[in-house]
Amino acid sequence: MKQRIQEVDLISAEEKEACELPRITEDKNTGRSRKLYIESYGCQMNFSDSEIVMSIMLENGFDTTSKPEEADVIFLNTCSIRDNAEQKVRFRLKHFNGIKRRRPGLMVGVLGCMAERLKTKLLEEEKIVDMVVGPDAYRSLPSLIREVDDGHKAVNVFLSKEETYADISPVRLTGDGLTAYISIMRGCDNMCSFCVVPFTRGRERSRDAKTIVQEAIDLFQNGYREVTLLGQNVDSYKWESEDQTEKVNFAQLMEMVALVHPDLRIRFSTSHPKDITDEVLYTMAKYENICNYIHLPAQSGNNRILDRMARNYTREFYLEKIKAIKRIVGEDCGISTDLIIGFCGETEEEHQDTIALMAEVVYDYAYMFAYSERPGTPAAKKYADDVPEEVKSRRLSEIITLHRETALIKNKASVGKTMKVLIDGVSKKSDEFLRGRCSNNAVVLFPRKNYQKGQYVMVRVTDCNTATLFGETVEN
Ligand code: SAH
Ligand code: SF4
Ligand code: F3S
Repeated sequence: MKQRIQEVDLISAEEKEACELPRITEDKNTGRSRKLYIESYGCQMNFSDSEIVMSIMLENGFDTTSKPEEADVIFLNTCSIRDNAEQKVRFRLKHFNGIKRRRPGLMVGVLGCMAERLKTKLLEEEKIVDMVVGPDAYRSLPSLIREVDDGHKAVNVFLSKEETYADISPVRLTGDGLTAYISIMRGCDNMCSFCVVPFTRGRERSRDAKTIVQEAIDLFQNGYREVTLLGQNVDSYKWESEDQTEKVNFAQLMEMVALVHPDLRIRFSTSHPKDITDEVLYTMAKYENICNYIHLPAQSGNNRILDRMARNYTREFYLEKIKAIKRIVGEDCGISTDLIIGFCGETEEEHQDTIALMAEVVYDYAYMFAYSERPGTPAAKKYADDVPEEVKSRRLSEIITLHRETALIKNKASVGKTMKVLIDGVSKKSDEFLRGRCSNNAVVLFPRKNYQKGQYVMVRVTDCNTATLFGETVEN
C-alpha cells in the first residue's frame, strides 16, 4: 500500500485530474430494459477498449449507468501488469458480491488482460464471475451475454492475429469532448522478459491507416482538439493494403493525422527506444501540431539488467536516442520514462546506474515501479525475484525523491518562456483559473479572463512547483 501511495504521490491535484482516466460509465438512459456499468483499469489501451465495448453494448440493447447498484451487467476491464493491479480487481469483485447477494440476477463479467491471463481459472477462483472475455473477443459479447442468460458461465479468450476493431466507432468516455484516444495497433511482439502484455494481448497487428485518419477527421469535426495515437510499441506500426500497393509506417501515419487540421494536436504512446526512428523525429519537427513530447521508457540504466530484461538496447544507445530527440525535435521536447527497480538480481551498483541515468536525462516525468513477478513470463521462468521487498521499497523511494528534484528543475527551466496551450478546463482549486497543457505535456494554470475550453492561447510562464506551471496569457 505504502508503495502505491508513493507511486502517485508526485502528481498534483491538477495533474491528477488531468490524467484521471474514465474509470466508470456515464448515465445514458433511453428507456432500454438493461443497464451496463463498466469500470476500467490499467493502461490507456484498456480505456480505449472500454470505448469499443461500450459501442458494442449500446448497439445491442443496453443503456449505461454510473451506479453499480442499478446495473444489470457489471464489467470490469482489467489489468495484469503488476500483482497489485490484479489485487485491486479482486477487491472490487468482493465489493460487487454484496450487490449480487441482494440481486442474484446481476451479471458480472471480467474483461481485458486479467481475463486473458487467468482464463477459466478466474471462474473457479472468483465465484461471482459469470463471464470471462479476453481483449480480442469483444465482438462476441452479445452472444456471451445470451449464454449467461441461459444459465451458463461464458468464456471467450481467443486471441486473434487480425482483430483491430477498425470498423467500430468507439463511444468516447474521456468526457471532456476535447481529447480522445485512437488505438492504432494491438498486441506486442517484443517479449521484454518482465512483461505479461504479449501473453494477454497477443501478436502485434496494425490497424488500417485510412480508418485511423477517418476517426481523427470525425473527432475534429465533433470538436475534439487532441488525439493520442496508442500502441504498446507505436514505432513498429506497419500497415499494408491488401494489394500491397500502399504501405504506411508510423512516421507516415503521424503525418497523415497531422494533416487532418493544424488545430488538431497529436500525441502518441508508447515509443520503444530500440524502434523509434529519426524519420519519426523529423516528422515531429516538421508539424507544429505534433506535440513535442515523447514517452520513452528506459526501464533501467544498467546494461546487464537491460540485457536480462530483453529490452534490446544499451544505456549508451538509449542516451544517443535522447540526444537525437534534442537535436531533431528540440531541446524543449518533453521526455518521460518508465523505470522498474528491483528487477531480478539487481545489485546496489546497478541501481545506482538507473539513478545516474535519471540525473543525466533530467526527465519531465517518470512512472516508477517496483518489479512484480508475473507468472509465465520469461523472467519468472529464468531468474529469481530475489531483491527483498524492503530493498525494493527503499530503491523506489530513492528514485521518486530524485525525480521530484529533476521535475522541479525541468519546470523551472520553463519559467519566463511563452508556450502555446490548449485549454482543457477550469482549475480544480479555483474557478478564477483555467488549466491547459503545453506541447511538452506540462500542465499550466492561468487567469480565466474570457477564454474558453478548447481554445489555444499563448501563456507566459511566471512560476512553478514540482507538478504545475503558473502563468499569464499574452495576446499574439
Ligand atoms: N509498451 C510499453 C509498456 C507497457 S507496460 C513499453 O514497452 O514501454 C507499462 C510499464 O509497466 C512498463 O514500461 C514497465 O515499466 C512497467 N511494468 C511492466 N511489467 C512490469 C512488472 N512485471 N513489474 C513492474 N513493472 C512492470
Ligand atoms: Fe511489454 Fe515490452 Fe511489449 Fe512494452 S514492449 S508491452 S514492456 S513486452
Ligand atoms: Fe495492463 Fe493489459 Fe494495459 S496488462 S497495462 S491493461 S495491456
